[in-house]
Amino acid sequence: MTSSLVSARLSPAASPRLIILAEAVLKAGATAKASLKRRLVNEMLSKAPRDYQTEIDVAVERIIVEELTKKFPDYAIKGEEAVGNRDGSAGTPVIYIDPIDGTTNFAWGIPHFGMTISIVENGILVAGVVYDAMLDELFSAELGGGAYLNGSRIECVANGDIENVVVGAGLPVPGQVKAVSEEIYFDALKRLMANTAGVRRLGSAALSIAYVACGRLDGFFEDGLSLHDYGASALLVTEAGGTVTAFNGRPVTANGDILAANTALHPWLAEGLK
Ligand code: IPD
Ligand code: CA
Ligand code: CA
Repeated sequence: MTSSLVSARLSPAASPRLIILAEAVLKAGATAKASLKRRLVNEMLSKAPRDYQTEIDVAVERIIVEELTKKFPDYAIKGEEAVGNRDGSAGTPVIYIDPIDGTTNFAWGIPHFGMTISIVENGILVAGVVYDAMLDELFSAELGGGAYLNGSRIECVANGDIENVVVGAGLPVPGQVKAVSEEIYFDALKRLMANTAGVRRLGSAALSIAYVACGRLDGFFEDGLSLHDYGASALLVTEAGGTVTAFNGRPVTANGDILAANTALHPWLAEGLK
């Protein structure tokens, strides 16, 4: 895809570095899409119980790292699969890559996974892309520049009408919930089931949070995520007028408990996680 075709899928004011992130993720997306199939457990690696790595997680990260290493020779790189990680000197921007967010979906042949890259500069998220290779949907955002889906501006939907919200949430694996007790977390899920239009566990935190940014979900929460998963998507939500915090309403920390929602709904969700 030529640079002008890629640019047409971003903000008209997209910076050269956002265009490079988009080019890299689009290139890698073709490989991921072509490789989707049901895999058996003996055909992949288990990094930990219920935490899989397929050969495509590694291949896709390699494609992205090769592109970005050339284009950003000074930046630090932190990929989830550690294919080409490198440190930078103090103060250099850091690129976070999650080559396939939703590996369990991918490994089971379920066509819903996100590919995501973000840049953190001086501790602040400044740019990010999330790509759904199956639907050819490219989400992108830059700090202060708005959030976009395939070149169209997106915004959270201001909907705090509890009976008529749809909320995404992670269904945790054992040990994943740490920010609150499991009892509080599961009660929060029950509260959603009892009061809202529906709860969704889509299987890619990156895409679920991006869905909050474009209004397909009114909110989302999950514990135990990392910047690799949520960096680009969190920037999408704030640039789309939504709110992203930890469960306790304070800024997100390395603990990785994330509550992203349209601003009208956020307080009600936070109440349920107390
Ligand atoms: C996972 C996905 C999943 C979430 C897990 C994440 P991965 O990332 O985002 O939706 O529930 O907590 O670890 O391992 O597929 O990159
Ligand atoms: Ca992930
Ligand atoms: Ca991953």
